[in-house]
Amino acid sequence: MANEFVSRSLDEIRFWSRIMKEHSLFLSLGFSSDDIKLIDEAKQFITVFERIEEQLNRFSVSSDPQQVKAFNNQVYQSVASIWAYKRKVLGLTLRCEVLSNNYPLLIDHTSREAAYFANRLKELNEGKLVPLPEAIIQENVFFLKIMADHAKFIGHLLDPSERKLVDQAREFSHDFDQLMYQAIDLDHMKPESETPALLGQFLDQNRVSVVSLRDFKKTARDLIEACRIKSNIHPLLADHVFREAERFIEIIDMFEGHLQNSHG
Ligand SMILES: [Fe+2]
Ligand SMILES: [Fe+2]
Repeated sequence: MANEFVSRSLDEIRFWSRIMKEHSLFLSLGFSSDDIKLIDEAKQFITVFERIEEQLNRFSVSSDPQQVKAFNNQVYQSVASIWAYKRKVLGLTLRCEVLSNNYPLLIDHTSREAAYFANRLKELNEGKLVPLPEAIIQENVFFLKIMADHAKFIGHLLDPSERKLVDQAREFSHDFDQLMYQAIDLDHMKPESETPALLGQFLDQNRVSVVSLRDFKKTARDLIEACRIKSNIHPLLADHVFREAERFIEIIDMFEGHLQNSHG
């Protein structure tokens, strides 16, 4: 159990610290060049999460759980700070007090990912390692919205002349909006909806769509890297959203494994 706590903590920090570092880069690139203070703040977060990654490298699965717990707390503070920064930038953007090339939905999206990460760290430190059925539905609501947002960002950041890809992105956006509402429907029906059969079917259905979105993102990433399509998408952003889809698939696998274990 102690080992599981350590390995899960390190895994969350490894994945999400890199994500937080990249958000800081994307936010810093979105401002106009005279918004020096906001750009500097974003860059400071790059340093903060790089340091966390360095610290992380000194831990291993055999590390002392107490030290990992303290590290989780430390990382939590940094994630809370970047969350507050993102919400500040969102407010400035929505009030038209700064001009940013980042869509408000993207800024909000990155803040939701920070809130998710912070919450994971809190849960781990509270000893919540195994997902409850209720958490399975809510986690899917969270990730389905994340995937729906990604499809919208891709659709809106592609060059308008990339008509076929824009259409595909729009279809993914619609598909994930539907899946998200379906998940919300299921969430409203809980706890009666928390049967292994319904949860299993729910996860299967989500997986099919996430796998196909993941493949679309992989193709887009490769084409962007090879400069074969026209877009405003930073190559690192293309890779970033691809990794987040992979993460969602891993989480679905973990949930399915858990359902099978607990219900034979
Ligand atoms: Fe992200
Ligand atoms: Fe994302």
